[in-house]
Amino acid sequence: MNIAIIYYSMTGTNYQMAQWAAEEARSNGDHEVRLRKVKETAPMDVIKSNDAWKEHYEQTKDIEAAALEDLDWADAIIFSVPTRYGNIPSQLQAFLDTTGGLWSKGKLVNKVVSAMTSAQNPHGGQEATLLSLYKSMFHWGAIIAAPGYTSEELFKTGGNPYGFSTEGGVDNLNDQSKTSISHQVKRTIDIAERINK
Ligand SMILES: Cc1cc2nc3c(=O)[nH]c(=O)nc-3n(C[C@H](O)[C@H](O)[C@H](O)COP(=O)(O)O)c2cc1C
Repeated sequence: MNIAIIYYSMTGTNYQMAQWAAEEARSNGDHEVRLRKVKETAPMDVIKSNDAWKEHYEQTKDIEAAALEDLDWADAIIFSVPTRYGNIPSQLQAFLDTTGGLWSKGKLVNKVVSAMTSAQNPHGGQEATLLSLYKSMFHWGAIIAAPGYTSEELFKTGGNPYGFSTEGGVDNLNDQSKTSISHQVKRTIDIAERINK
């Protein structure tokens, strides 16, 4: 399978989640995996005015940006993005808004997709953010591989059936988060394999 892990992160949380997802996807050795960041669109003066944002921006500036070709190439796509007032970040929306050409040729049909998110607060919009993203995926004709309650492990990280989610930033991620993320990745790949048989 060709697996694209596409993330956006301002302060590193979703970057870590995406890295763990890529690690899991690579672990069985059979899959091609691309870790891609969503291109930053915020003005540089705004980024520079926030120390944590600036530091993360610098730290990840060499990571390849997601391109339309990555979507075309992928059998499965795992997104990881923070919430923005219960919605996806505008950076990802801007990228999705460039997919009309692929969509019109039917190139996004049957992509197996799954998503993860983070927020500052436990009820800060995790579920709403994932559902916002999945709404666009329905328009693609994608197959959504949500984790549901397919593993006992998921109950230990908040039991979000739409996708792994966390609150409170990168310091709040732990081994249990990694376990839940791994489960979601394995399930996404398993469904992609069934679809592409
Ligand atoms: C413009 C903006 C809007 C945000 N909206 C919310 C929100 O509605 N609820 C919430 O809990 N956190 C909100 N946050 C906090 C981020 O979701 C949180 O910092 C993020 O999950 C950290 O992920 P990252 O480290 O990958 O950037 C917001 C942050 C920004 C910058």
